[in-house]
Amino acid sequence: MVQGIANWNTEQTEEWLQSYVDDWVAFYRKHTTDGEVASYIPVLQEADPDNLGITIIGKNGITIRSGDDSIPFTMQSISKVLSFIVGCMERGVAYMLDRVDVEPAGEAFNSIIHLEMKQVKKPFNPLINAGAITVTSLLEGKTSDEKLKPILELLEDMLGYRPAINVEVYESERDSSMRNRAIGYYLLEVGFLESDLNITLETYFKQCSIEVTMDDLARIGMILANDGEDPDTQEEIIPRQVARIAKALMLTCGMYDASGKFATYVGIPAKSGVSGGILAAVPPRVREEELPFLDGCGIGVYGPALDDKGNSIAGIRLLRHIAKQWDLSIF
Ligand code: DON
Repeated sequence: MVQGIANWNTEQTEEWLQSYVDDWVAFYRKHTTDGEVASYIPVLQEADPDNLGITIIGKNGITIRSGDDSIPFTMQSISKVLSFIVGCMERGVAYMLDRVDVEPAGEAFNSIIHLEMKQVKKPFNPLINAGAITVTSLLEGKTSDEKLKPILELLEDMLGYRPAINVEVYESERDSSMRNRAIGYYLLEVGFLESDLNITLETYFKQCSIEVTMDDLARIGMILANDGEDPDTQEEIIPRQVARIAKALMLTCGMYDASGKFATYVGIPAKSGVSGGILAAVPPRVREEELPFLDGCGIGVYGPALDDKGNSIAGIRLLRHIAKQWDLSIF
């Protein structure tokens, strides 16, 4: 079954890495039965819980793709990384960090308990719903489409095509958004929002409904791993400082109240979404032995069966295994 990498050397081919990853995906696919697809957004319930797939794109051009690789899915919370990046690019880092903190909340992604109990001056971080809705309110633009455009343009710069919004998911999300509306009204009451609440929420639901594939997430991860520069063209797509803050947030807050465990056992900046996607950025690392992807890589995972924190259950286990086998941890 799963083998080690004792005999790794740089002469080995892409196919050789591929055969390992194929074995690991087949093994961890069995773990999907330990989780459940998200149901609080009704359309997400239609996903096939058995699905599992991964794409790894190295800075050196090596691409490994395994499992269910052609299934499009919505970004959901992974979009929070993009909206924060766009906010920083539009308004500047200082402006954003004055209005949203960078501390792990240690609570569920849709909780506002700390906001109310601790009477904080700003939401804990941009990756929980309260922080992300605040970030979306800070984006330039008077309409949801104006606010969304730079997010789609940033994605187009990274992916080479402009992703679409899945209208069915958007409508399902909008029509089942009681919790996010409650969060929104609370944020409005305490004065954290800088745009109209309805436009902010409409933008937030649309950004969560942007449709991508594992390959797209791997490419975004690879550019983040490379501090915002596209390694193919040397073009700076995201300012280095912003890419670094995004990775720090992913590491400390990206898997919500499982972020500490993920940092400990996987050790890679990553962001999950309730559709089952995970975006991971593996920065270059220095090791004495020859290991795969020492120059860094981006990883996209799709596995819609979730654990009780809202993270892909088999996806996390697969990432943990690969990180251990290939020593991907940044620590
Ligand atoms: O706002 C929500 O609840 C969803 N659109 C996104 C939540 C999410 O993806 C949490 N991630 N694990």
